[in-house]
Amino acid sequence: MALHLGAQYILEHNVGISDAVLLDPLTEEAFIENLKKRFSHEQIYTYIGTVVVSVNPYQKLPLYTAEVIEEYRSRNIYELPPHIYAISDEAYRSMRDRNLDQCIIISGESGAGKTEASKVIMQYVAQVSGKGREIDRVKEQLLQSNPVLEAFGNAKTLRNDNSSRFGKYMDIEFDFKGDPIGGVITNYLLEKSRVASQIPGERNFHIFYQLLAGADPTFLETLKLSPKPESYGFLNKSGCITVDTIDDAREFNLVKTGMEVIGFYRAEINEVFQLVASVLKLGNVEFSHRSNSDGTDGCDIASTQELEDVAKILGCMEQNLKSALTQRTVEVKREKVKTDFSVAGAVYARDALCKAIYSRLFSWLVQRINDSIKVKTEQTKKVMGVLDIYGFEVFETNRYEQFIINYCNEKLQQIFIELTLKEEQEEYIREGIEWIHVQYFNNAVICDLIEKSGSSFSQNNNVGILAILDEQCLLPGNVTDKTFLEKMNTTCKDHPHYESRALRKNQSDRSLPHDAFRLKHYAGNVTYKVDGFIDKNNDLLYRDLSQAMYACKHNLMKKLFPEGYHKALDTRCLVNSLRNPTQKSLKRPPTAGSQFKASVQELMKNLLSKNPNYIRCIKPNDEKQSGKLDLDIVKHQVRYLGLMENIRVKRAGYAYRQVYDQFLYRYKMLADETWPSWHGDAKEGVKKILANQKIADDEIAFGKSKLFIRNPRTLFDLEETRRERMHFLATLIQKVWKGHVKREHFLLMKRSQVIISSRFRGFYGQKQYKRKKAAALLLQCCTRRWKARKLLAELKHQKRMEWAAGVIHKYYLGWKVRMNYKPKFRRIAGPKVARFMVVALRRKFLLNVRDKLPSLSPIDNKWPSSLNMYKSASDQLQVMHHRWRCRKYRRKLNESQKYTLREKATASDIFKDKKVIYPESVPHPFKGDYLNLRGDMKWKKIHSVTHDINLVFADLVHKVNRANGKIVQQLLVISSQALLVIDHHTMTLKYRIPIEYIEKISLSPFQDKLAVFHMKKPENGDKFAKKGDFIIGNEHIIEIVTKSSLCLKNKTSKMPEITISPQCSSQFGNSSVQVSFQQGAKGLEPGIPGVKVTRKKHLMLISEP
Ligand SMILES: Nc1ncnc2c1ncn2[C@@H]1O[C@H](COP(=O)(O)OP(=O)(O)OP(=O)(O)O)[C@@H](O)[C@H]1O
Ligand SMILES: [Mg+2]
Repeated sequence: MALHLGAQYILEHNVGISDAVLLDPLTEEAFIENLKKRFSHEQIYTYIGTVVVSVNPYQKLPLYTAEVIEEYRSRNIYELPPHIYAISDEAYRSMRDRNLDQCIIISGESGAGKTEASKVIMQYVAQVSGKGREIDRVKEQLLQSNPVLEAFGNAKTLRNDNSSRFGKYMDIEFDFKGDPIGGVITNYLLEKSRVASQIPGERNFHIFYQLLAGADPTFLETLKLSPKPESYGFLNKSGCITVDTIDDAREFNLVKTGMEVIGFYRAEINEVFQLVASVLKLGNVEFSHRSNSDGTDGCDIASTQELEDVAKILGCMEQNLKSALTQRTVEVKREKVKTDFSVAGAVYARDALCKAIYSRLFSWLVQRINDSIKVKTEQTKKVMGVLDIYGFEVFETNRYEQFIINYCNEKLQQIFIELTLKEEQEEYIREGIEWIHVQYFNNAVICDLIEKSGSSFSQNNNVGILAILDEQCLLPGNVTDKTFLEKMNTTCKDHPHYESRALRKNQSDRSLPHDAFRLKHYAGNVTYKVDGFIDKNNDLLYRDLSQAMYACKHNLMKKLFPEGYHKALDTRCLVNSLRNPTQKSLKRPPTAGSQFKASVQELMKNLLSKNPNYIRCIKPNDEKQSGKLDLDIVKHQVRYLGLMENIRVKRAGYAYRQVYDQFLYRYKMLADETWPSWHGDAKEGVKKILANQKIADDEIAFGKSKLFIRNPRTLFDLEETRRERMHFLATLIQKVWKGHVKREHFLLMKRSQVIISSRFRGFYGQKQYKRKKAAALLLQCCTRRWKARKLLAELKHQKRMEWAAGVIHKYYLGWKVRMNYKPKFRRIAGPKVARFMVVALRRKFLLNVRDKLPSLSPIDNKWPSSLNMYKSASDQLQVMHHRWRCRKYRRKLNESQKYTLREKATASDIFKDKKVIYPESVPHPFKGDYLNLRGDMKWKKIHSVTHDINLVFADLVHKVNRANGKIVQQLLVISSQALLVIDHHTMTLKYRIPIEYIEKISLSPFQDKLAVFHMKKPENGDKFAKKGDFIIGNEHIIEIVTKSSLCLKNKTSKMPEITISPQCSSQFGNSSVQVSFQQGAKGLEPGIPGVKVTRKKHLMLISEP
């Protein structure tokens, strides 16, 4: 398999012995030499069995890439060179696959690389565990908690540029699949004294510098901060502001991003930085001395600017804050009295306040992160804990903090000894394994010296330092660090690990100051100055201060100082700033020491409940230099970490042990007898397996309940064989299973094939049958049709023959009959047939006439057509029919209708085809009395005189003046007797012309409606006749002429002569005048409409258009 670059690098550099258990000879020098050799080849990790020894390289090595992780993933721990990934993988897989909760304990002194190692573990777990949106979110939150907590809890120290100033234990919680689902972080004792002061060359917590360097100026302005760290009292005293290896501005942005990823609200982030700013500001508050009138010392705020700013940031009254910083309330005889602080007292109170704010803020941050990363579901969890706690510390001056830190390290060493040295050796004895005891230093005695509880006042003087300290803190009266030291000196004087100048055994030891005591730790001697022990252990904050903080309108600050609410609390009692901020008990809060002890004990219990894995970190030199390994420094650490003892126990003992049942269960496939199941005694089964594997007797030992394997290699080989065997078995199972599946498949296919082929054959046969059937039918049809056709043809032929025979027979018979009757038939038949035909035709003609007679209307000209031979008969019949229907029509008419018809017939006789205007007169009936004169009284008067009672016609007419051709309108009345001309204005009779006087009437054939009435020659001086002819014009001229003609006929039985011609001659009086009608005249004058009459001597011209 091709190796990735990272893994190749590790393999290439893998020099020396990677598992120190295999060292030969096994001496401290050889071990350190091996470490050095490996270190010089950048191999920083070495195993002692399964314990990883890590030497800080102080340089970036290509050991932590994703490819390297992939290489180590799911590999056996001994397969690849030692690495934290290997132990992480082992722990992760044990947790996931065997359901064993794990913890990885990282120990070593400050700067040895514990924090880096813990990050490497988290990086590994993040990569190898599952993926998914929710899982990635959890991973990201867990990873991002590091930069945030490091910013607030780490600081640059002389030993480490990024020294963790708090202890951290992180439980990463996984689901059954091994995917991270959340976590819980526990923090231990933040070194809060660093907030107020640092030793030269060290820095305050990173966040102060990061905020000033990284926040944008406007944000700093809102926090009322200047970007210069030098301007802050808490930052400028140690002489160290920047660190080469740290980019504060960049880190600040990482912290902010981290907080956002974890799920801090923007407002929360701002509040956090406001508190950081207020700590810096408070640190700048200075006090000036003031002598009170009662002789006591008092103090004032030297410059109020900073105080004002803090008050604004925190939203509190400046005065309250000032008073809390310069005065305190004490109770004297149950009365509350305010007393002033001296300058030193005020500085102490201010620093205490700042430390309390900062440490509580830190605890709140951890709590807030926990809220975000805690598992939100109710599922069963598997846990992997990573412990990165401050390393053993020995400074020039060691104080309370170092005492606490080193106590914690003693406990961790204790647990290491318990689990790797003591417990192991005891187990051999318990299991009855032959064992030569390996000597090691058990630090339980030192742990006891520190933590043993009890009372120093009892008979038994065997009481721990922490208990003495607590006791001193509780004592009323003037308790000082000195009294505490004295108490220790009396109580612990006999303890071999306790030294003090006051003791006889150390009286001459000048290196031990009088105000200090020395503890002989497992890691070396440390001299602690008692100065500040009582104070720090009490960890008290004046109630006035916590009340002032609670009174702030700052959300977060209020949360951090809940005890400020209890105003009624005894003011004598100060408040322990370490206590749980939410705790509101009125009891005296536990001391810092006892709280720490309790939390360490809790931690130990937690670690013991899990399967431990160790990373022992070693610092190669004090200069933080890469590539340099200082043998003395390393030797010191190797010694106090007890690594040699560890190797010896490992080497003399057995690397691996397992209960028989479990061993059998895991390796039963390695022997034919035990696979697939063993029903006998488990130990016997195990023996069978081992015999089968031919493992040497000295490699193994059979305990009472467990099997012990000396060499990890043996176990590794067993694992390897098991893996191969599993492969084989898996292949076998696969093979059988695949064979079974294939066989099943084959059988299924075979059955299917039979079904398919039978179905197909059936289907095919059916199809063939249908085709054959269809073909047979077709053939049958064709045959039948052919037969039928043949039969038909025969029958047709036969029929035709029969018919022909019949015809021939008929003709023959006809011929025979004709032959018989021919003579008779010819003479008679001809005329008969002809007559018959004539009669028939005539009949047909007459019937046709009868059936198609035209209507009875006399004007209907239709008549049925007929053969030419009956043309004349038809015409006669038509005339007869016409007459008949005319007579019928006439008979239907009454007298008046008859008369009218007579008039119209007369008009027709006179005018038809002679006068142009005649046709238009035909449809108009001859009304006669157009003026309704018959009822007129004046007319009645006239006809009573003239006796013209029988009025035939009356209308206004145009009368042409005979002399000049002018036209005048007169009323013309025609009676059966005469023509009467009446003045239509006066209704006076102008003259009356008896009808018989009319001789002739002339009209033109043209359009005009004029008539010339010619009079008879006058006889006997007839006055009317003398006047001569006259010309009248009227619309109804046809009617006038017709009616007067008929009247004349009635009177004289003779019609007048009527001429229709363009000219006529007239007699006007005595003169004879030629009247001429002319057509085509233009521009006619009014008169008789459309007529112009002119008289020129004997010519009267009547022009028409
Ligand atoms: N594996 C490593 N590779 C490269 N550099 C490392 C490694 N381990 C540690 N270092 C370097 O050493 C420095 C100190 O390491 P780290 O902070 O982990 O020490 P520590 O044991 O946690 O100390 P403390 O107890 O003070 O917190 C790191 O800042 C880093 O520069
Ligand atoms: Mg650290």
